[in-house]
Amino acid sequence: MIGSAPSGFHASITGIGSYVPERVLTNDELSQMVDTSDEWIVERTGIRERRIAAPEQALSDLCRPAAEQALGKAGVEPASIDLLIVATVTPDMAFPSTAAILADQLGAGQAGAYDLSAGCTGFMYALAQAYGMLSGGLAHRALVIGGDVLSKILDWTDRGTCVLFGDGAGAVVLEAVDAGGFLAFELGADGSGGPQLYMPAGGSRAPATAETVADGQHFAKMNGREVFKFATRVLVSSAESVLAEGGKTIDDVDVYIPHQANVRIIDHAVRKLGIPDDKVVINVDRYGNTSSGSIPLALADAEAEGRLQKGGLVLMTGMGAGLTWGSALMEWTV
Ligand code: ACO
Repeated sequence: MIGSAPSGFHASITGIGSYVPERVLTNDELSQMVDTSDEWIVERTGIRERRIAAPEQALSDLCRPAAEQALGKAGVEPASIDLLIVATVTPDMAFPSTAAILADQLGAGQAGAYDLSAGCTGFMYALAQAYGMLSGGLAHRALVIGGDVLSKILDWTDRGTCVLFGDGAGAVVLEAVDAGGFLAFELGADGSGGPQLYMPAGGSRAPATAETVADGQHFAKMNGREVFKFATRVLVSSAESVLAEGGKTIDDVDVYIPHQANVRIIDHAVRKLGIPDDKVVINVDRYGNTSSGSIPLALADAEAEGRLQKGGLVLMTGMGAGLTWGSALMEWTV
């Protein structure tokens, strides 16, 4: 799916918030849990530490402070939100949706609220949906949250996955603006790659049983090498597609926010796209791969560092389970 903004309508991000749990898990601590080392993890992934949710913390507990911050920065009342989307693969529970739980907690009683599952690309899918709802007149003010608590579905004895991920959430408010804002989106999915990154049990294909639990079927499984190849390919192709759709070139981009999975994947995309390092936002060293939280957390960091300037062109690309990918191009407006 690819498309550019309809002429005459502009919508943009008017507030950003983020939250990560307090607990920091370092590579050295991980090397006492599985056969790994700080040196291996830093060299192969660029990750130095990640945040891990407390046993009692569920996804909504991470999303709520991020959402409240975003609403505060946008200067809008929760009651005025009429669309609330939570992108995640680790909701509080299968149902009710985490979005409905949050709508109640936040006081967004007028909002259509639902969760969206597109792996680590979830936030990009949710942004595109919210934009579509706004531009089509179905919604007027959206709260889009991306977050995951992957620590709860990791096999902490599998060094191939447990060193890569962390927990966190980010939120944005989307509203109509006079000019600028989102210019184009590109989204895609290749379900044939699904088995490269998945959680086998707990759905209707393999409901939870004592056997599925004993077999570790409720943990995330990943073929790291295949996902690596996929990620390096789509990070480049999706960015090129959305730039062409938006009538821009890579030289026009001021801030590049790729999904924070692995510094080597990001470096590959940066080289292929030909974008200078100082335009790239990287925080995977501090947070690991936070899945749907990755891009909004990086947006929040970019804002905190003063890198999001009015009129600047921002390129975001995510990729993940599905396998899925998605990009957005926007002119920053606040
Ligand atoms: N510590 C030490 N050694 C390890 C570790 C570890 N944590 N993990 C794997 N190894 C070993 C392997 O067993 C292998 O040993 P062998 O040669 O004796 O068989 C060796 O290191 C090399 O393994 P590779 O898999 O070839 O290592 P690679 O350089 O490909 O790095 C990695 C592995 C980091 C997982 C990489 O493939 C990767 O980043 N893949 C993409 C993962 C990703 O981004 N997933 C998420 C994207 S989508 C989403 O966000 C949900």
